Amino acid sequence: SLYDLIIKNGIVCTASDVFPACIGIKDGKISSIAGNLEDHLALEIIDAEGALITPGGIDAHVHVDERLKLLGEVADTMGDATRSAVAGGTTTLVAFATQDTSLTGPKALSDSVKLTIEDYVSQKLYCDYALHLILFSVEKSSVTGKNILDVQLQNVYQDYGVTSVKVFMTYPGLQLSDYDILTVMYATRKNGFTTMIHAENGDVIKWLIEDLENKGLVQPYHHGVSRPTILEGEATNRAITLAQTMDTPILFVHVSAPEAVDVIRRGQTRGMKIFAETCPQYALLSEEDTRCHHGVSQGNEEDPDQFIGAKDICSPPLRKAACQDTIWNAMDNGTFTIVGSDHCPYLYYDKLSNASKHRAFSDTKNGEFRYIPNGMPGVGTRLPLLYSYGLLQRRLSNVTKFVEVNCTNPAKLYGLYPQKGSLLPGVSDADLVIWYPDNAKKSFASKPKVISNKLLNHKCDYTPFEGFEISNWPRYTVVKGKIVYQEGKFLDNATGTYLKRMPSEMCAPRDRWPYPELRPGYVPS
Ligand code: URP
Ligand code: ZN
Ligand code: ZN
Ligand code: ZN
Repeated sequence: SLYDLIIKNGIVCTASDVFPACIGIKDGKISSIAGNLEDHLALEIIDAEGALITPGGIDAHVHVDERLKLLGEVADTMGDATRSAVAGGTTTLVAFATQDTSLTGPKALSDSVKLTIEDYVSQKLYCDYALHLILFSVEKSSVTGKNILDVQLQNVYQDYGVTSVKVFMTYPGLQLSDYDILTVMYATRKNGFTTMIHAENGDVIKWLIEDLENKGLVQPYHHGVSRPTILEGEATNRAITLAQTMDTPILFVHVSAPEAVDVIRRGQTRGMKIFAETCPQYALLSEEDTRCHHGVSQGNEEDPDQFIGAKDICSPPLRKAACQDTIWNAMDNGTFTIVGSDHCPYLYYDKLSNASKHRAFSDTKNGEFRYIPNGMPGVGTRLPLLYSYGLLQRRLSNVTKFVEVNCTNPAKLYGLYPQKGSLLPGVSDADLVIWYPDNAKKSFASKPKVISNKLLNHKCDYTPFEGFEISNWPRYTVVKGKIVYQEGKFLDNATGTYLKRMPSEMCAPRDRWPYPELRPGYVPS
């Protein structure tokens, strides 16, 4: 027949248009979108009953179990993360391959990516994934400094279609100097890579952590005290200055601080190629969630070890509740290009200590916040939270903005568009979400009302959003034309694979230099 699947009676939503239409799907692709497609043209029909149909989400910021465990052991494999993603309406992940400093030669970085992909081929993947590359050492043999990084990135792109690099301005062992960041920017610019930046002033944070420890202020809450918003603002401004010096487009990941939003906005106004990502936790949670001395957090959950604030530890940390408006506004006004989850699912109860204590406790550790791994799960909650708290509560002006920040912009920013991130007939993969009808007279037993950890289908033993009320949830998640998740259940249709990417279509350098002499290859006359 003409179509494998027709979806009818839905409101099709893209980043630019919202209109009632039928979607015809053939061989895993969007084949046609039309006012009416007749039932007999398809093998299978879904009646959307008036609900919104959006492209599947693209979560371009997830951490999964990874061979080098540079960020410590997390609970989810790539398979687990794709499963949780699909249950929450996300149909593409971009995770991280870490530079392996034991590898040498011009393919050291390419091989770092290769070994990472090999880890995941045997896993059952519920949706496609791609990889960014984490660079934390630009002097070591695996990169050999500023001369060779350029060739390394060229190989990474040619071999595996990786077109983005993440660098850290904080975290002992990962933090790069300004000198090294310029080296990275020189090479990323030359190869059309996107430079992703974790902007916090690591030196000052190190000093503040030591000072807090000397004062005995070591509870989870003080993690946030050690990383104030001004240090994110400073590092963000410094990275913008480096990017301006090297004429390199940059993207700030997991932006949380109003000071950072301000300098990003100002740089964008000056015409710089500055992009930014925020995460649902910065829009919906606050530093109060990291307090633990009440023994109870977020509802009625018991806290036997008085440590429950550790569930909400991440970097940058959760901010004051008063900062949330700034985050929502910047999401709606275009300052934030994308929303990612920064899914980083550390188990709360550490298996190693008989599942009764957090891993920040051992013979030598007494729960000091510096031993709490940074990160929280979120790949399954990003889209539903943004739907309920953003779209339906009018913090996002319209559904086109919802689609833009969650689906289309991540695809454009990371070189996956238009295969991913939209619903273009003939070109886009049939990755989409059919939501429940928002104002349906009828009630749906399968539609969840609150977030609970069970719903998320990840391996993490908690969600920081436990008990959050939600007004909608993906009713169907379709991946490459197949229904993979339907009304709370998985169908046996998982066919996820590794995705090669193109260079970003947003991150082209502008060729604007503070002095012409700074241009690479400039020859004095
Ligand atoms: O706390 C966080 N964000 N953990 C994940 C690693 C990172 O910096 O993105
Ligand atoms: Zn980070
Ligand atoms: Zn406390
Ligand atoms: Zn992250």
